[in-house]
Amino acid sequence: MRETRKVRKAVFPVAGLGTRFLPATKASPKEMLPVVDKPLIQYAVEEAIAAGIDEMIFVTGRSKRAIEDHFDKSYEIEAELEARGKQKLLDLVRGIKPSHVDCFYVRQPEALGLGHAVLCAEKLVGDEPFAVVLADDLLYGEPPVLAQMVDTYDHYHNSVIGVEEIPIEDSRSYGIVEGKEWDKNIVKLSGIVEKPAPEVAPSNLGVVGRYILRPRIFDHIRTLKPGAGGELQLTDAIQSLMQEEQVLAYRYHGTRFDCGSKLGYLKATVEFALRHPEVKDEFEEYLRTRSPIMES
Ligand code: G1P
Repeated sequence: MRETRKVRKAVFPVAGLGTRFLPATKASPKEMLPVVDKPLIQYAVEEAIAAGIDEMIFVTGRSKRAIEDHFDKSYEIEAELEARGKQKLLDLVRGIKPSHVDCFYVRQPEALGLGHAVLCAEKLVGDEPFAVVLADDLLYGEPPVLAQMVDTYDHYHNSVIGVEEIPIEDSRSYGIVEGKEWDKNIVKLSGIVEKPAPEVAPSNLGVVGRYILRPRIFDHIRTLKPGAGGELQLTDAIQSLMQEEQVLAYRYHGTRFDCGSKLGYLKATVEFALRHPEVKDEFEEYLRTRSPIMES
């Protein structure tokens, strides 16, 4: 029987340490870093909403409460903005969580890896296909990348892993997939391995932080043994799921900014500023006219 259930839930693991970024962000999760005027987690949630998802499940941890506060209703701020007649800002604040969207929170007591984080959401996900979104991979796409992936899922009803071509010397930073080109932008997976050395990487297709997974994945996470870095790796669970059902990799259309790294974060800030209606003209002008750093 063909699975007809829609993807309505997204899991956002936000308990990771973010050790590649600034130590100064340790009290406030890296997903709360703003790009121009919105935190990374807001971009991720908006991408999920654009894909038709209306249940957001955050896997949080110690010192990550800022995420809950961000999506909570803020009576004081709203009353204050209303009193001052700041309608534009009021709309912005109210738009953070549209009324048809529900947010749920579950704690990951220990940072035991991405696989473990996803397992923490099992009871909230239940027996449905779901998305996993890593908010520090900021993706720009038209249509948004998760919507492209949900379309792919709706067509094939197989788990779908977002991938892009990466420089092979960077293979140690990614899950790397192996498989056969099947349909346009679709690869039928025959293997997936977490952070291999370039010499043994099976391809140059790296996993980006977007997954659509069928619920059977939970059974495979549960039987995992610690993998790369001693953590329970989602990648290893996908490798195991693949023995049982077809898994697809999808080459998305769009651009990725690795906001887990300083350079990626800076690039994202520039690119999103250049697209932001309020600042784009003046910012572009500034970039064009600024002096090279050596001469200033
Ligand atoms: C995680 C995944 C990895 C994936 C990457 C994408 O790694 O384990 O397979 O390629 O996200 O950003 P992390 O960057 O959290 O170490």
